[in-house]
Amino acid sequence: MTNDNIMLAESRQGEVMEVVDQKPTKKAFYIESYGCQMNFSDSEIVASILNEVGFGATNNIEAADLILINTCSIREKAEDTVRKRLRYFDQFKSRRPGSLVGVLGCMAERLKDKLLEQEKLVDIVVGPDAYRDLPKLIESAEDGDKGINVFLSREETYADISPLRLDSNGVTAFISIMRGCDNMCSFCVVPFTRGRERSRNAFTIVAEAADLYSKGYREVTLLGQNVDSYKWKNPESEEIINFAEILRMVAEVNPDLRIRFSTSHPKDITDEVLETMAAYDNICKYIHLPVQSGNSRVLKLMNRTYDRNWYKNRVKAIYRIIPDCAISSDMIAGFCTETEEEHQDTLSMMEFAQYSMSYMFYYSERPGTLAHKKYKDDVPLEVKKRRLQEIIQLQNKISLRHNEKDIGKTFKVLIEGTSKKSDADFKGRNSQNKMIIFPKLSGLQPSDYVEVKVNRATSATLIGEIV
Ligand code: SAH
Ligand code: SF4
Ligand code: F3S
Repeated sequence: MTNDNIMLAESRQGEVMEVVDQKPTKKAFYIESYGCQMNFSDSEIVASILNEVGFGATNNIEAADLILINTCSIREKAEDTVRKRLRYFDQFKSRRPGSLVGVLGCMAERLKDKLLEQEKLVDIVVGPDAYRDLPKLIESAEDGDKGINVFLSREETYADISPLRLDSNGVTAFISIMRGCDNMCSFCVVPFTRGRERSRNAFTIVAEAADLYSKGYREVTLLGQNVDSYKWKNPESEEIINFAEILRMVAEVNPDLRIRFSTSHPKDITDEVLETMAAYDNICKYIHLPVQSGNSRVLKLMNRTYDRNWYKNRVKAIYRIIPDCAISSDMIAGFCTETEEEHQDTLSMMEFAQYSMSYMFYYSERPGTLAHKKYKDDVPLEVKKRRLQEIIQLQNKISLRHNEKDIGKTFKVLIEGTSKKSDADFKGRNSQNKMIIFPKLSGLQPSDYVEVKVNRATSATLIGEIV
């Protein structure tokens, strides 16, 4: 996927919104989410906070008293998309007097009150750590005052809030286990928009997983910008729970509950985590391990704190400890001063790691980041785009090869719902996070596990039948 279709795939606009467990409401809010899974997860926390004060989620923007957009700042294009959506919201706001528009998330945090100056229709601006303040800010906006809170917290994890599942398939759900990031990769805005790293109370994580299981969910994804540095100290026992331990605790909720997690940082993923994955059948054999670049000099400029050799050794450890594991990655083409030879190192790393899939981008300079302050964004746009194309083409080839190796194999698949393309087919994923499409059989429904034999493969999907 390129960055454009990530935005589309993740915005999920226009789908009918299924909301689970909503309380009776007097007013309606409409919310659109952009960016990473953390943002989608945060929107569910926001929905829960709003529901407590009488707002219900609607998928119909024309009926909304409150229009919210949960925004992403990761690349310039992500912010452009948000500004376009704000233009679009204008017509609904003017048609419905008294209705409000709020900007949430990373762009709210990055631009703060500048956003109120630049975007006249915006009434409320709320950063990722200030969502508890939303009811108050809405009240003051209803009285005609613009509301803003972009305070970043060192403690907030929303641990006690039970998210209201938006757009839910009733099968898979996100659980946020930590917030913020302390890594300071030189290209990245996240440490500025999401603040310092903090881990959520382990017992509330396990309780949320157990609650989801009891409601019929069969897969949870533990979320954080850097889940491998999860670390929570039990204030009573003083015991420290690390990522391997929280993985084990969630895996023990029920053997029928699948566990996924994202994102892993190559410097932090330990053998203990890999061994825990190998030890539990219900921890999915899939790791998103973004490399960013395959060249050690560029990695140093990026402040990723590992080099090519370290990354290769982590990949080797994964395939040694979990032979059937799939690995995916993120790559940035054309970072400051990257030469043609260094770009080739990224391509050869892709071959080495045999990624099942990747998210691929060209470098977009972000104001305020270390790279913006220290380095020149000197790779011409055409060169960035050409290198990105080479990366995408190679990934498509590797993905196809990876998927073709699965032809003839049988996988345990969790049914997620009806295939988008055909009502006669189900879709679901195997442990390796590959989407598999197969004909429905009567008596089966979403959240059931089935054994599916793969007959055909494209670079994006496996096609099979239940055996
Ligand atoms: N925490 C995750 C990444 C979160 S951002 C990690 O460390 O891997 C998701 C991806 O966006 C990053 O992995 C990176 O590939 C990409 N990205 C971040 N900043 C970028 C920028 N300035 N230009 C282009 N791509 C960027
Ligand atoms: Fe950004 Fe690096 Fe933190 Fe990922 S680990 S969110 S790329 S600073
Ligand atoms: Fe975007 Fe913020 Fe996530 S910048 S990628 S929404 S943490």
